[in-house]
Order: sequence, then C-alpha cells, then structure tokens
Amino acid sequence: MKLRVSSDDFYASPLGAAYSAYMERPRLSRVIGRVVWGGDSGRYYEGMDAVAEVPAGGTVVDCPCGAGPAFRAAPRDGSIRYVAADLSPSMLRRARKRARRRGLTGIEIVEADATALALPADSADLFLSFWGLHCYDDPAGALVEAARVLKPGGRLVGASFVRGRESLRQRLLIKPGVGAFGQVGTQRELEGWLAAAGFDQVGLERSGPMLFFEAIAAGGDRPMAAANG
Ligand SMILES: C[S@@+](CC[C@H](N)C(=O)[O-])C[C@H]1O[C@@H](n2cnc3c(N)ncnc32)[C@H](O)[C@@H]1O
Repeated sequence: MKLRVSSDDFYASPLGAAYSAYMERPRLSRVIGRVVWGGDSGRYYEGMDAVAEVPAGGTVVDCPCGAGPAFRAAPRDGSIRYVAADLSPSMLRRARKRARRRGLTGIEIVEADATALALPADSADLFLSFWGLHCYDDPAGALVEAARVLKPGGRLVGASFVRGRESLRQRLLIKPGVGAFGQVGTQRELEGWLAAAGFDQVGLERSGPMLFFEAIAAGGDRPMAAANG
C-alpha cells in the first residue's frame, strides 16, 4: 500500500514549523484563528478535555496528531493507552519531541494513513480528529476508519475547516488542493460522511469556517456532551 500525505512538504516547511509551534499555544492560536481564518478555535482546546473522561484502561486514538498539541490532555500515569498517528515524518518528529518534553513515555507515536490504521476494530473509546479531515484526500474514508476503530458507543471529537461561500476568507482561503488542504468538504458533505460512516448523535458547532464536531459510533447509547450549534 502506498502511503501519501497530501502536503508533507508543507509541514516540513517553516510554515509547518510555525503552525506546529502556535498550535501548542492556545492564546496565540486563537488570535491567529480569528485574524487569519475568522473563527474562534477555543472549542478545539476544550475538545481535548474528552481525554480526561476515558476510563482507566481505555484507549484514545489521536489522528492526525500533528506535532502533538493534544498531548496536553494525555495523562502521565499511563492509565490509558494513547495512540498518536500521523503521516508526516516532520510532524511525527515534533510529536516525539513534545512527548519527551512532557514526560509522556507511554504514548505510542506511529506513522499511519488515517484511512488505514493498524488498530483492531472496536478497540478505542475516544477518537480525536483535530484539523485533519480538510487535509485528507479521502476524508470520508478516514471517518469510516475512525468508526471501525471505535468501540460501539465510542466517541469521536474533532475539528475541521469547511469549504463554502459564507465569507470572503472562506471563499478565498479554503480551496481543495491548495496549501495543506486536501479534499476539503462543505459542512453538509462532512455531515453526510459522518452519517455514512455510521456515526450518530452528531453535535456540531460552527465558528466562521471552523466546524467542531462530536459523534458517537453506532451501537452505543451514550448521551452527547456537546451542544448543537
Ligand atoms: C492541520 S494538521 C493538524 C494536526 C493536529 N491534529 C493539530 O491539531 O495541530 C493536519 C495533519 O494531518 C496530517 N495528515 C495529512 N494527510 C494525512 C493522512 N492521509 N493520514 C494521516 N495524517 C495525515 C498532516 O501530516 C498534519 O500533521
């Protein structure tokens, strides 16, 4: 199988390094989110709190992990299994460095395509999908893979840019195949991909072109924590 990251050069570049650095700094990242993209990324950092709700012995999959901004939520005591996956070697190097800096010796950091994770079906309690879907060539396939890996009733928490014509910035900046963007979809498309992958109890919140989502893998009856936006 051929692994492919649509924009590995982007993440290896100084722009990718700058992105990795500011995503670890919530205040700076929120300012950049507002000024550049016209949305508030605060909900992204709040979404990481879901890790604390995973019971001891449970499994979290963080894909794409990028440089590891969500590691801030990972417990240091090894009480849960935390698998961080990404396709970009430069991002994985940064993620390993970040894990070391935070003393997170138990995190498993692996190179993997979001559509083909080397994890068993029905094995994860929580799947974090932060800012990946808009980068992928096959976002619908990545959601099918997330649903496969999650236990029935397992939780998906994520964020993605969505394409559309609601603002000038969205029209000009969010274009499939440009920069780090892959097959970036509209909100409607993303909702369709979630449903097709077998997710229900979908909660959505929009801020400008940013879409924050939560959903439950079919088969469980866990109530939604997120408010619908
Ligand atoms: C915008 S970054 C988001 C990273 C991180 N979740 C965050 O919040 O900063 C997108 C990430 O998707 C990764 N990526 C792109 N295509 C991928 C694929 N097919 N499978 C796995 N990761 C991929 C990139 O390498 C990059 O690290």
